Amino acid sequence: MQDFHAQLRTLGELLLAYQADWRFLPFDTQHWPWPELAFLQDKTPDELEAMEQAALHALLDRHRPGLSPWHAKALPRISGPALALPERLAVGMGGRKWQQIQDFSAAVAPRLPVLEWCAGKGHLGRALASQGLTVQALEWQQSLCDQGQDLARQWQLDHQFVCADALAPDSGRWVKAQQHAVALHACGDLHSQLLVHAVKAGTQAISLSPCCYHLIAGDRYQPLSALGRQLDLGLTRFDLRLPLQELVTGGDRAERLRHKELGYRLAFDSLQRQLRGDDSYLPVPNAPKSLFSGDFASFAHWAAEKKGLALPAKMALEPFLAEGLRRHQKVRRLDWVRHWYRRPLELWLLLDRVCYLVDAGYQVRLGSFTDKAQTPRNALIDARKGDA
Ligand SMILES: C[S@@+](CC[C@H](N)C(=O)[O-])C[C@H]1O[C@@H](n2cnc3c(N)ncnc32)[C@H](O)[C@@H]1O
Repeated sequence: MQDFHAQLRTLGELLLAYQADWRFLPFDTQHWPWPELAFLQDKTPDELEAMEQAALHALLDRHRPGLSPWHAKALPRISGPALALPERLAVGMGGRKWQQIQDFSAAVAPRLPVLEWCAGKGHLGRALASQGLTVQALEWQQSLCDQGQDLARQWQLDHQFVCADALAPDSGRWVKAQQHAVALHACGDLHSQLLVHAVKAGTQAISLSPCCYHLIAGDRYQPLSALGRQLDLGLTRFDLRLPLQELVTGGDRAERLRHKELGYRLAFDSLQRQLRGDDSYLPVPNAPKSLFSGDFASFAHWAAEKKGLALPAKMALEPFLAEGLRRHQKVRRLDWVRHWYRRPLELWLLLDRVCYLVDAGYQVRLGSFTDKAQTPRNALIDARKGDA
């Protein structure tokens, strides 16, 4: 059996030793923080991002010993015999979602009554109910519960929806010992809460694919495992976003638009510092994507209005745009270094959950349930008690 605790400890120590590489705000960093990596500033962000894996690992081995084995560490695939899921269940679902559901069902193959946590329309639960299992789906949006319940009726499945808040003080009452609790892409606190309830109830089987680690109520991540708490990294919500920042499915156009957005945002940041006479960062809310297909002036007027700033009609905006594009190149280089820790940080978060379950007496597997092309959030934590 793998020693998950040793992995959590080693990784935690590594992340703390190198925290100056990932615990900073690239947007708000004026100077290059690493003298020993000064040579990276001579490269364009495109050159850095195109660096071959072997060259990158040689660089890490030289300057960040111990990091390269974790940098792109793949999880072993957890799979099982495909279940005979009726194709009609795929209707109204994207192709990738359907593939995720087929792979997840085959990997976890429940035998006990199922509780699906944060079920949405209950796509996964419906697939499992089609195998003759009793499924209870917990979801807080009434419209999704109604749609899911209608489909269950239509296909005559034993699939009951409970419209309830997974974070309510009494939400543990839905979690029982003789159950297989499943959660596909339940965010931050939602899946942590399921783990806490399941451990308390002694739930026989738990299968979970976490996502959106940053969606937590508090300002800082509270580790679940005793070892995680002992080696607490003190992760902020900003830190918790890092594992989600890999772009696997965006494609070139999405990538170009994202770079344009960042350039505009940095240009506006320079502009707002001058307008306010205050050299500090001002968060600007999410903007409609269409704004980034237009020119900088439209975005600048939109953002100024959102922040209650008066933007003089005749103000020359080109110098700010030029400054923003320069800063964007710098941020991309800083981010490139930060992103060395995307995978290690996600593994640490996964291992914290795994160790919590191991400490509670579960036999746990940590792996992937589907290809990355289907979803970048393809990790699976599968925990069993006894012979569940
Ligand atoms: C990312 S979606 C995943 C849905 C589904 N498991 C899937 O993979 O298609 C997360 C779901 O959690 C639900 N949700 C969010 N907060 C919740 C809460 N406090 N209680 C119950 N459900 C919640 C959302 O409405 C949404 O349907």
